[in-house]
Amino acid sequence: MNLIEQKIHDYAEEISSTENDILKQLTRETHLKVMNPIMLCGFLQGRFLAMISSMMRAESILEIGTYTGYSAICLAQGLQEHGTLHTIEKDPELEEICRKYFKLSGLENKIQLHIGDAMEVIPNLDMLFDLVYIDCDKEIYTDVYELVFEKVKPRGYIIADNVLWHGKIFDEHQQDDKETKAIVEFNRYVKNDKRAENYLLPFRDGMMIIQKK
Ligand SMILES: C[S@@+](CC[C@H](N)C(=O)[O-])C[C@H]1O[C@@H](n2cnc3c(N)ncnc32)[C@H](O)[C@@H]1O
Repeated sequence: MNLIEQKIHDYAEEISSTENDILKQLTRETHLKVMNPIMLCGFLQGRFLAMISSMMRAESILEIGTYTGYSAICLAQGLQEHGTLHTIEKDPELEEICRKYFKLSGLENKIQLHIGDAMEVIPNLDMLFDLVYIDCDKEIYTDVYELVFEKVKPRGYIIADNVLWHGKIFDEHQQDDKETKAIVEFNRYVKNDKRAENYLLPFRDGMMIIQKK
């Protein structure tokens, strides 16, 4: 981030509704105990996800890539009263911290955690979703997109995170790297998908917002 971007970011954090104490505590514990805390979506993106979920009046959300549960809690905060969030995480070592914070957040009744590979779990989810949030390994983005597409309600949304991939998508030399290549292909695939409308929101690492027609 350059100086102006940093100032805008800091001001946005200062002037937006305050992050609740449970999310602050989860952030601290993730930094202390878990590898790759950079994977946390963090305060501003978390508020954005909570707002989107609330604005949509979502009743059913699927998240792919729970990590320590920060974005899951934010998405669940915006759910309708009887809404449910299903979230899938392949790393069983993260289960304990996720469950701890789902409970502390008071949202554990709304969050169903699935430990396993999303490619195996998704076909067994027998329901339709208002919103799917994709935030897992980048190499499988297009496969996951195809797998979840039929589980999204008509006019429902898919949001895919990290579609700017730290700017590596603009560098031809980086495009040999598997993850960068996968993101470039995913973005093109979505753009060409006649079944959906899409908009790349250039916020943080880029969020692709896709609406099923
Ligand atoms: C970027 S982190 C998710 C961050 C989280 N959404 C947040 O904002 O707090 C990606 C997570 O996806 C998980 N993951 C990657 N590939 C997966 C797969 N095929 N099935 C389920 N989980 C997967 C990883 O283990 C990791 O915890």
